[in-house]
Amino acid sequence: MRIDVITIFPGLIEPFRTTSLLGAACRDGIVELVVHDLREFTKDRHRTVDDTPYGGGPGMVMRPEPLIEAIEALAGPKGETRKARVLLLSPQGRRLDQGWAQELAREEHLVLVCGRYEGVDQRVIEIAVDEEVSIGDYVLAGGELPALVLIEAVTRLVPGVMGNPESAEAESFQTGMLEGPQFTRPAEYRGIEVPAVLRSGDHQAIARWRAEQAHAVTKRRRPDLLGRGRGEEER
Ligand code: ADE
Repeated sequence: MRIDVITIFPGLIEPFRTTSLLGAACRDGIVELVVHDLREFTKDRHRTVDDTPYGGGPGMVMRPEPLIEAIEALAGPKGETRKARVLLLSPQGRRLDQGWAQELAREEHLVLVCGRYEGVDQRVIEIAVDEEVSIGDYVLAGGELPALVLIEAVTRLVPGVMGNPESAEAESFQTGMLEGPQFTRPAEYRGIEVPAVLRSGDHQAIARWRAEQAHAVTKRRRPDLLGRGRGEEER
């Protein structure tokens, strides 16, 4: 999978490319993550990426020309022949969830556009963006952290990125439920014992206990997730 990120802060994205799970996936050639400085696509002497909003009001708006030129240089023009999927990170977008992350993990090429300031000129969205993505109902100063969230949620589902594919299958949301409690050594710590069933060696009993715990925590904390089948998350 190839992922291009367009940003005015390449330094925020770069360390992620070389660290942890994603770092290993990039070194192994499973994921190629390329970061592009939007200012490289400007033509004026001051390399301007923003301007004041028409109609007045606070803040600045990202200019259409450098963004559209950057997107089209990486993904080609919007339309049926375009092979990449161009996503703009924005609080106005559709909320990212595990089902959508799974779908994106099957793409060969993503281009992620990080907005900054009060927003991007609407013509960028109309002319060059395929979809807008939000990571939740709160407002951040820019799309860089949301892009990293998306990259981590998606790339860990790409075959070969996670050492043990089973760990992705058992975890929260992938099953449609939250995960129950986990324990490691010691068997007793500050008076709290690891449940005996986990130390019993009885794999069937352990699987049953884990399923019960998952159901109980989901019912208590996220009853909205119950009764929805796998992959039927609300859109
Ligand atoms: N940019 C600013 N806030 C955002 C959010 N919640 N999701 C995606 N992009 C954003």
